[in-house]
This record gives sequence, C-alpha cells and structure tokens, in this order.
Amino acid sequence: MEGEKEKLCLKREVGLIGAVSFIAGTMIGSGIFISPQSVLVNIGSPGASLLVWVACGLLATLGSLCYAELGTVILESGGEYIYFLRIFGKVMAFMFVYSFVIVMRPASATGIALSFAEYAVAPFYHDCMAPELVVKCVAAAGILVLAIVNSLNVRLAMFFQVFSMWIKLFALAVIIIGGVMLLFEGNTKNFEDSFKGTNVEISSIGISLYQGLWSYDGWNTLNYLTEELKHPEVNLPRAVMIAIPMVTLLYLLVNVSYLAAMTPNELMSSSAVAVTWGNKVLGSWGWVMSIAAAVSALGSLNGTFFSGGRVCFVAAREGHLPDILAMAHVKRLTPSPALIFTTAISLLVLIPGDIQSIVNFFSFTAWFFYAITLSGLLYLRIKKPELPRPYRVPIVIPVLVIMAAIFLVLAPIIDNPAIEYLYVTLFIFSSILIYVPFIHYKFCTGLLEKLTLFLQLFLKVAPANKNQ
Ligand code: ARG
Repeated sequence: MEGEKEKLCLKREVGLIGAVSFIAGTMIGSGIFISPQSVLVNIGSPGASLLVWVACGLLATLGSLCYAELGTVILESGGEYIYFLRIFGKVMAFMFVYSFVIVMRPASATGIALSFAEYAVAPFYHDCMAPELVVKCVAAAGILVLAIVNSLNVRLAMFFQVFSMWIKLFALAVIIIGGVMLLFEGNTKNFEDSFKGTNVEISSIGISLYQGLWSYDGWNTLNYLTEELKHPEVNLPRAVMIAIPMVTLLYLLVNVSYLAAMTPNELMSSSAVAVTWGNKVLGSWGWVMSIAAAVSALGSLNGTFFSGGRVCFVAAREGHLPDILAMAHVKRLTPSPALIFTTAISLLVLIPGDIQSIVNFFSFTAWFFYAITLSGLLYLRIKKPELPRPYRVPIVIPVLVIMAAIFLVLAPIIDNPAIEYLYVTLFIFSSILIYVPFIHYKFCTGLLEKLTLFLQLFLKVAPANKNQ
C-alpha cells in the first residue's frame, strides 16, 4: 500500500495544437448542426440571425480573453470552481461545483449526446422521425463509449479529439464550399431584404442568443485543464485567440451556406439542418453529412468529458466532493472515479431530457456563473493588483461581458417569466443546505471513509497530486 500512497500526477501532455483542438473541438459539436434553425425561429429574419451569430462569437471571444487572464493568474485546473475558491471562498465554490456536477456538465453532455444520436440514426429513418427510445439508447451508448475511452488513456482521448476535429472541419468545409458555389451561381435571393420580420422583443433576442451561445459553449474549456497544459501562461491566451475567432468565422460561413441553399422557411422547419442541406446540395451523398455531424457531436462530448471529469477531480481534492473522486488510476493516471460519476448522472439526465429545454436551462445557469467569475476578475484587479499577470485583458472587456451576461440571465425572464427558471435558481442556492452539515460539519465522514477504501481497492486508484 505504501507504494500506492506515493502521490500520482496528471501529466502535462497538452501543447498548443492540442489546446486549440480542445477548444475548437469542444465548441464545435451539436450546436452548429441544430441551433441555426432555432436562432432563426426566435429572431425572425436571416439578416438578424447572422448578427446573432456574430454577437455570440464576439461574446465568446471577449469572455475567453478574460478567462485567459484568470487562468494565468490562478494556474490551477478546475475552471470557475478554482477561481471561486481562491477569490470568494469555500461556500461559493461549493455552490458552483454542486450546480456544475449535478446540472451543467451532465446536461451539456446529455444535450450533445442526444444530438449525436439524432444524426447517427437519421440515415435509417429517411421519411419519418426516429423513435425516442432508439435515440436515447444510442445517446446512452455514445456516453458510455466515451467514458470508457477517457478512463483508459489520456492519449487515446486526445487522439479522438484531434481526429474528430478534422472530421468536423471537413464537414464544415464541405458546407462552406458548397455555399460559396451556390452564391456564385446566383442563389442570393434569401439575402435580399434580409431584416424583414425581425423580432425585437427582449425575450426573443435572449432566447436566440441562448441557442447561438450553445454552439459557442466550451470557449472556456482550457481553464478546466490548466495543469495539463504545457506552458499555460503562453499557450492559454494564444490558443484562445486562435481557436475562437476561427470558430466564429466558420459558423458565420456555414450559416450563409445554409441560407444560400434553403429558404428561411425550409430552414425553420428542418430539425436536422445539415441533413436537409446535404440532401439538397449533395443529392445522393447527403447521408455523409449525418455521419459527419454525428462524429462532430461525439468529439464535443469527448471534450466535455475530459474537462468535466477534471472539475470533479479538483473539487474532491479540496474536500468539496467525496475523496474517491480525486483519485487517479495507479497505472493509467486517468481520473476514472470522477469520470464514472459524471457518466452516471449524465445517464440519469438522459431519461427525461429534451434538447431545447436542456440548452435553455444550461445557458441560463452557465451565464449566471460566468458573470460571477468575471466579477471575480475585477475584484482581483482591485484587491490584489500586485499579482503577476502574464496576460492582462483591457479592463473594459470584463465590464462589457458582465453587462452582457446580466442581460442574458434576465432577458428570458423579463417578458416571459417561466417557473422553471425559478426552480433552477432555487436549486443553485439549495447547495448551501448541503454545505453546512456535510462539508462544514463533516457529518457522515466515517461511513464515507470505509466506502472510499473499498472503492479505492476495487477501481485500483490512488490520491493524485497537484502539478506544480
Ligand atoms: N458548443 C457545444 C456544441 O455545440 C456544446 C458545448 C456544451 N458545453 C460544454 N462545456 N461542453 O455542441
């Protein structure tokens, strides 16, 4: 046992190209193949929908520049969790990790897995909708396979990330080139009078931004695995500045291509827009698009798992989740207990979940916490100006992003206050009820220790150490 007690480290294996692929690979997933339709439905006109895509890209870029500063001041893995802990203290950090572990991460994994499944089964159900049970079983299979890959080997997970990124870039390139050809052939009708019909109600704008931002979510991925980055102080800001503008440009061109091939009405009534596009432009090769969209979602799911497991890992290390979640496999050095835990909750969320509501609740919760994180950045600038900041973001940027985040959280509530948002808010704050007995007063620790020992032997895992 003595040997096993020797602390294990996660390796610093991720370089600049890996980092760019992690961001782009997590961002590009289900969204670009699903959201264009919902953005257009909510905002009402093609011109305004393109503006929404630009606004979302801008917001993601600015947000991630702020995160690059945070990630190079606080050089620890764990994203928002570790920033809350270092800046605001334990209770806030627990509140975040509780919402993150039980709602946000499983919800995003499930949303992506569902859209993977929709596209994966699409070729088999040509003229009708696939049965819900089939879609959910395929989604569950996707979640399980990726969880296994991630527990077996960091390199294998990385390889899949890079591989799926090429597939998704290929798919987007096909759509873009097809679109350019259509434009040259003179298919520009849908861009004439392109702002007619725009909805300017606050809640339509808010929901269309939620749907667009879903495609951009994952812009903060690297902050979850800072400890596995080579030279994070250089590679973090660099990777962000390469990846996010690139993704924004791709998304815009893809949307232009969708609009070149389909009328706004066709786009709005399609549930799998890439397949509709494929059938119209590629003819009998249309099915290629459904495979590519499915692999794309799977790659995003992989990135979500990779970073999501890391948050459990860091929070457990700090005593906010059971110890077992902070352990890594003694030989493979992968945090398998944390991965198993995330998988289990994702499978539970899958049972009742549907994509649209998952996206809306996810975005609401996520932007609530992004706003708090960015206020942490401002707070640090004021309280600890002396901290070394290898990358310093111009101060107006966090201020602007915080204002946008406040708008995002309030917009869907102002016009149309759905009760579900209240439930989500109550859930976030209920974390305090758990914190006091179980974390602060350490109620039930004896039982947990026995269980930990058992699981430790069973899963062959040992406590992992921080990388310095
Ligand atoms: N942008 C991704 C997509 O379009 C969703 C990302 C969900 N969030 C995350 N942190 N993985 O599929």
